[in-house]
Amino acid sequence: MALLDIRNLSIDISTAQGKVRVIDKASLTIVDGSIHGLVGESGSGKSLIAKAILGLHNANWTVTADRMFLGATDLTKLSANDRRKIMGKEIAMIFQHPRSYLDPSKKIFSQIKEVLPTTSVKKLFLSKIKRVPEQSTQQRIKELLHKVGIQNDQTVLASYPHELSEGICQKVMIAMAIANNPSLIIADEPTTAMEAVTRAQIFRLLYKLNQLHSTTILLLSNNFGSISNLSDYITLIYSGQTVESGSYKQIINSPMHPYTEAMIKTILEFDESISHKSQLYTLPGNIPSANQLPIGCRLGPRCPRAQRSCVTNPEPLNFKGHVISCHFPTLDENQHANTSQRK
Ligand SMILES: Nc1ncnc2c1ncn2[C@@H]1O[C@H](COP(=O)(O)OP(=O)(O)OP(=O)(O)O)[C@@H](O)[C@H]1O
Ligand code: SF4
Ligand SMILES: [Mg+2]
Repeated sequence: MALLDIRNLSIDISTAQGKVRVIDKASLTIVDGSIHGLVGESGSGKSLIAKAILGLHNANWTVTADRMFLGATDLTKLSANDRRKIMGKEIAMIFQHPRSYLDPSKKIFSQIKEVLPTTSVKKLFLSKIKRVPEQSTQQRIKELLHKVGIQNDQTVLASYPHELSEGICQKVMIAMAIANNPSLIIADEPTTAMEAVTRAQIFRLLYKLNQLHSTTILLLSNNFGSISNLSDYITLIYSGQTVESGSYKQIINSPMHPYTEAMIKTILEFDESISHKSQLYTLPGNIPSANQLPIGCRLGPRCPRAQRSCVTNPEPLNFKGHVISCHFPTLDENQHANTSQRK
């Protein structure tokens, strides 16, 4: 079952040069309880999609979507106020550079305390009748820290963010994110600029949260290699257009889009991950800037298979949940037969 279902999401931003369609009919379906990787080079629109999900629109954005459901709730129909309420409870976000999101003037204890859900009146009433002692704030905070693998809780709780490493700050952010038991955590490049050991620890922690508590996780990254192994499902995005989406197996074993193929080839040949903001050597050129977007399929100027028809947007093709948007995808015989029948 889909926890989040987004179809044809577009974001137009008004700039001094006019309106720019930064996200162009992107679709994303996230299965409940899964880890879903959203992967694309820097500037492809991952963070914009996260902001659109959270309803954090700037005044100069126009956001449209054919469908945007969180469970049974139609997010497009909610008022800004109701949207904020749902988002605070159901969806939590973890960012890159966690230290810059923590308040430098407050100790960790009070920062976590601020995000703890208040005990409901009903719970308080029951604890009084049954004489079950209400768990103290201190205990609840300690439990959260233990959940994210912080053992020396006393030291961490008494510290200011600048006294802690980037890795510990990210664990604190994750503890704050899970305080409300959200159904979805969006992790936007959660390990950028971290050392390999810390990066592995954070990914292991997110994996554990998913396995033990069935928390659904949307992992945003420009680093296909580092998150693909962790992901049950993967969506690739290029310049605001979602180009291919499917299960880990479908994407790794039978990629159909030239962009996905280039991503996988880069990783296989280098046998390592692509670092932040680096180029895909298998595709010439760079991702276009927002004010120089090609018409139709935006990969066109870099694509080895591009033909004249690529100046129109390809319609998505769906092969048992493996969705591809390309006029000339790599298909096997069955898929060929399937698409010919449709035509
Ligand atoms: N507020 C804004 N106003 C105008 N253009 C914007 C704004 N925010 C983002 N963009 C443009 O939208 C595109 C997508 O940006 P976004 O930050 O979502 O990319 P990203 O995939 O998250 O990249 P990164 O991997 O570097 O975080 C970029 O071309 C960016 O310049
Ligand atoms: S639609 Fe054309 S330009 Fe786009 S990826 Fe496919 S072949 Fe390349
Ligand atoms: Mg980003």
